[in-house]
Amino acid sequence: MRSELEVNGARVAWEHEPHEFLTEVLRREGLKGTKRGCESGDCGACAVLLDGEEVPSCLVLAAQAHGHAVETIEGVGSFEAPHPIQEAFLDATAIQCGYCTPGMVLATKALLAETPNPTEADARACLAGHLCRCTGYVKPIQAVLSAAQRCQAGAQ
Ligand code: FES
Ligand code: FES
Repeated sequence: MRSELEVNGARVAWEHEPHEFLTEVLRREGLKGTKRGCESGDCGACAVLLDGEEVPSCLVLAAQAHGHAVETIEGVGSFEAPHPIQEAFLDATAIQCGYCTPGMVLATKALLAETPNPTEADARACLAGHLCRCTGYVKPIQAVLSAAQRCQAGAQ
C-alpha cells in the first residue's frame, strides 16, 4: 500500500505493507536516527513526533501516518548545525552511546513546545518513558532544563 505524509517538512509517498510499523518504514527510507529498541512501547528509542506529539513509532502503523506530519531526529538539527536541545545534551554530557538520545531530544522538543519553562518534575516526566543504559538520568534531566533556557534565549 501507499501512504502520503510529510516527513521533516518534505512531502513523501512511501510504499509499505499494511502491517508495517512506522519505525521500519522510516529506517528503510534512510531515517536511521529512529532507533529500534523494545518494539513494545516501553523504551522510547523509537520516538518520533506525529503532528508535534511524541509517539512510539514502533506502535504506530505506517498507514496511520498517512496525511500527517512526522518529525524525526534528522529534522531537528544537523551535525554542523545542532539544535539548541542537541547542544544542551552535548554540553551536559548527557550522551554516551547515544542510542537513547534521538528519542530524548524529540521528547524534549515536544515538551518545550507545550511548556517552554519546565520544572524539574516536568523534565523527569518528559524522560520517564525513555530508558538509557549508559548515563543514568541526572544529566539528561539537566539537559532538558538547560535546553529550555537556551530555546527561550534564542526566542528573545
Ligand atoms: S522501540 Fe518503540 S518504545 Fe521501544
Ligand atoms: S546514552 Fe547509551 S542508552 Fe542512553
